[in-house]
Amino acid sequence: MLILGIDTSCDDTSISVLEGKNRILSNIVSSQIDLHSRFGGVVPEIASRKHVEIIDSLFCEAIEKASVSKDQLDVVCVTQGPGLIGSVLVGLCFAKGLALSLRKPIIGINHVEAHAMGIFLERDIEFPFISLVVSGGHTCILLMEEPCRYKVIGSTRDDAAGEALDKIAKFLGLGYPGGPIIEKLSEKGKTDYIKFPRPMADDNNFDFSFSGLKTAFINWAKKHTVTEENIHHVLASFQEAIFDSLFGKLIKASKTYGINRIVVGGGVASNSKLRSFFKEMADKNGLSVYFPSPANCTDNAAMIAVTGYFYFKKNLFSPLDMKGFSRINIKGI
Ligand code: KG4
Ligand code: ZN
Repeated sequence: MLILGIDTSCDDTSISVLEGKNRILSNIVSSQIDLHSRFGGVVPEIASRKHVEIIDSLFCEAIEKASVSKDQLDVVCVTQGPGLIGSVLVGLCFAKGLALSLRKPIIGINHVEAHAMGIFLERDIEFPFISLVVSGGHTCILLMEEPCRYKVIGSTRDDAAGEALDKIAKFLGLGYPGGPIIEKLSEKGKTDYIKFPRPMADDNNFDFSFSGLKTAFINWAKKHTVTEENIHHVLASFQEAIFDSLFGKLIKASKTYGINRIVVGGGVASNSKLRSFFKEMADKNGLSVYFPSPANCTDNAAMIAVTGYFYFKKNLFSPLDMKGFSRINIKGI
């Protein structure tokens, strides 16, 4: 069984060919970071234009690398949303044209669900489990009930965690994307140098808010100045506040639902400090935490394909006239 995965949700164009559930024959990711970095963030119009420019040749490359012919593909799986709508539509229209011309079924995939399911490329996890998806576009907690069936039980009220890291890096003129830059600069920093707030920690829900935390950082920086001497500590404290807020809500969700398996995905989950912090906290709280390897945390089409595998197995296909969407919504049966 050969599954084609396509993801153009944001600023990466990615196409993958997956054999069965987890044999990755190709998973090509073309990053647009160089195009957007000078703006300190993704420019939607530039992103969509670049997807249009390269998607066809990337598809040919993915097929060639997998050593298969396009007629051998069994199904086309594509990100239907959420994401930048212009970007999403490029992948969706390409996938529809391909499915139509090859006379193959198509499956529209929720990009956030795919971040939660990407772990299955590397190992199986018993359902139900709780998933935290933490990226530049999303910060949400999903209750994964069974394959293709899940609920979004918490999400950010404003900025996503990665977005907050990106904005702080932009504010300090450090570059884009901010997450990996802040990770590097925080390595030797003291996490208790500044006691930043843990927004919404005491609220009786699984939601997050990072905009206030970002403002707290900016206010601190304006009052005290960030210098070469203190930048490591200041950023380490900020990063820790984000990770601590995230884990606090995971403990809450785990207790509420009586589930101790936690899967973390999304670009921010590739952060080595987040991984060690979560592992330590999970041990202390009797939880098992699982991460895909860092390359499978950031956007890629193999995670779209493996999610599609489960829909294919249940004969859950999408109509050719399905619409793309920009904001998270619930797709399941
Ligand atoms: O999942 P992803 O590739 O795209 C979205 O769906 O948003 O995530 C990108 C986000 C960016 O905000 C980036 O700063 C953050 O993930 N990120 C990181 C790291 N690598 C990427 N954040 C913290 N530490 C990292 N190592
Ligand atoms: Zn993503």
